Amino acid sequence: MELEDESYDFVVVANRLPVDSVTEADGTKGWKLSPGGLVTALEPVMRSADGAWIGWPGAADTHVDPFEHDGITMVPVSLDQTEVERYYEGFSNDTLWPLYHDVIAQPSYHREWWDSYVSVNRRFADRAASLASHGAIVWVHDYQLQLVPGMLREKRPDLTIGFFNHIPFPAYGLYSQLPWRRQILTGLLGADVIGFQRTADAGNFARAVRRLFGYETRGSSIRVPLEDGAERRSRHSRTVVARAFPISIDSASFADLAARPDVVERARQIREDLGNPKTILFGVDRLDYTKGIRHRLKAYAELLQDGRLDASETTLIQVASPSRERVAAYMELRDEIEMTVGRINGDYGSIGSAPVHYLHHGYPREEMVALYLASDVMLVTALRDGMNLVAKEYVASRIDGDGVLILSEFAGASDDLRQALLINPHDIQGVKEAIVTAVEMEPRDRKRRMRALRRKVIENDVAKWSATFLEELRRASHAGTAADTP
Ligand code: G6P
Repeated sequence: MELEDESYDFVVVANRLPVDSVTEADGTKGWKLSPGGLVTALEPVMRSADGAWIGWPGAADTHVDPFEHDGITMVPVSLDQTEVERYYEGFSNDTLWPLYHDVIAQPSYHREWWDSYVSVNRRFADRAASLASHGAIVWVHDYQLQLVPGMLREKRPDLTIGFFNHIPFPAYGLYSQLPWRRQILTGLLGADVIGFQRTADAGNFARAVRRLFGYETRGSSIRVPLEDGAERRSRHSRTVVARAFPISIDSASFADLAARPDVVERARQIREDLGNPKTILFGVDRLDYTKGIRHRLKAYAELLQDGRLDASETTLIQVASPSRERVAAYMELRDEIEMTVGRINGDYGSIGSAPVHYLHHGYPREEMVALYLASDVMLVTALRDGMNLVAKEYVASRIDGDGVLILSEFAGASDDLRQALLINPHDIQGVKEAIVTAVEMEPRDRKRRMRALRRKVIENDVAKWSATFLEELRRASHAGTAADTP
C-alpha cells in the first residue's frame, strides 16, 4: 500500500517538516532530521502511535511524495513561489510575526496575502483530514496554521484537535488591528485544546474571544456555542481549553554533549583561538528584530566606551543565523547590525583582537554546546519572544555549574528561570549594569544561581511538555464528548 493511502492515529501538522534535504558526496539527495526540539519530543509518540508529520519541505515548487524517515511518515505539502511570497514571507512573517511580537516592526496588511494564507491553510487541513484515522489525534503547530483547527473540525468532527502557538499572543489592543481577527479566532477555536507559552498569552487570547465573540470564559475553559444552538446550554456548546504549556528542550541531550571530551576540548580551543580573554560574552539568535541584538550591541559598546569593560580582555561572540532573508525588515536589520558591529570593532579593536566576533551562520548542536561551555556570560535580550530556547540550552549545557545567564523578562523563559539576571532590554543602563554584575559575579553566586536554573530545565524538559499537552488533549476530548451528549 502507498503511504498516501494509509491512515494515521496521530498526525502532526506544522509549517515545516522536521527534516532538511541533504546532498551526499556522490550527488544523491536525502533527508536529515533537523535538530529541533519538537521532533525529539514527538518522535517516541509518533513511533508508538503510528504517526505522520505534514509539513512544507522548505523550498518553493518542490513536489515530494510521502516518505519514511527514522520511523516517521513525512508528508510534504508543496508551496509554489507565489505562495511562498504571500503565505510564508508575507502573511506569516510580515503580518502575523510582527503583530504577535508587539509591533516591534510594522505589520503589513494585504488582502492577497490573506487569501493565500487561507488557501494554504486549507491545503494543510485537507491533507490532515484525508490522512487521519477515525477518532485520531491531530496536533497543529504555530501561527502559520491558525485556520487549520477550524477547517479540520468542519470536515472531521470525529477528530481530537490540539493547537500549540509557539510565539506570543498579543494583547487585545494590538490584536484588534488585524483585519481578519475574527476569522483567526474561529480557526483556533476549532481545537479542543489551545496551548500557549505563557499564562499571559492565554489570557490575551481569552480576552480577544470575549471582546469579539462575547463567549463565556472561566479559568482556562472557553464555552463555544455550536452553530445550530444559539442558546448556550451545555449540549449546544463545546468547551475549548486555552492555557499555558511552556515548551522546553531535550535537556539530557545537551548535558550529554557537554560531557563529551571532544566538545569540552572544542570549548577550550574556542577560548584559545580568541586569545584566552578574561571574559567571553555570547549571544546566539536567528537574525530577527525581536531578539534585541541591537540593544545588546549598544550596551556592550557603551561599556567599552565608558572603560567599564576592557576590549583587550573581553570578547563578545554574536552568532546570528540567517533567517527570512527575503523579507524587507530582516534585510534592513542585517545591514544595521553589520554596520554596528563594524563600528564597534573599528572603534575598540586592535591588530589581532576584535571586541565582537560576528558570525552569520547556523551551527550544528555540538558546536553550539562548545560555545555555551566556552562563554562566561550568555546574553538573551529579546524584546519579545514566545519562550527562547537558547536560554534553556545554555543552562542545560552548563554541567560544570558555571556561567551567568542574562535574560530578558520579555522572553517566556523568564517565567521559570527566575535566578537569571533578569533585564528589561529597552533599559540600556539596566542591561549595562547586568553585564557588569555578571562579569564580576563571585564564583559562589554564579554556581548557586546556575544550580537553581539547572534544576528547572532538567525537571521540565520537552518530553514532559508534550506529554502534558497530550494528556490535556485526551482529557478535553473525553469531556467534550460527554458535554455534547444530550
Ligand atoms: C520560530 C517559529 C517557528 C519557525 C522558526 C524558524 O521559532 O515559532 O514556527 O519555524 O521560528 O523560522 P522559519 O521562518 O525559518 O520557519
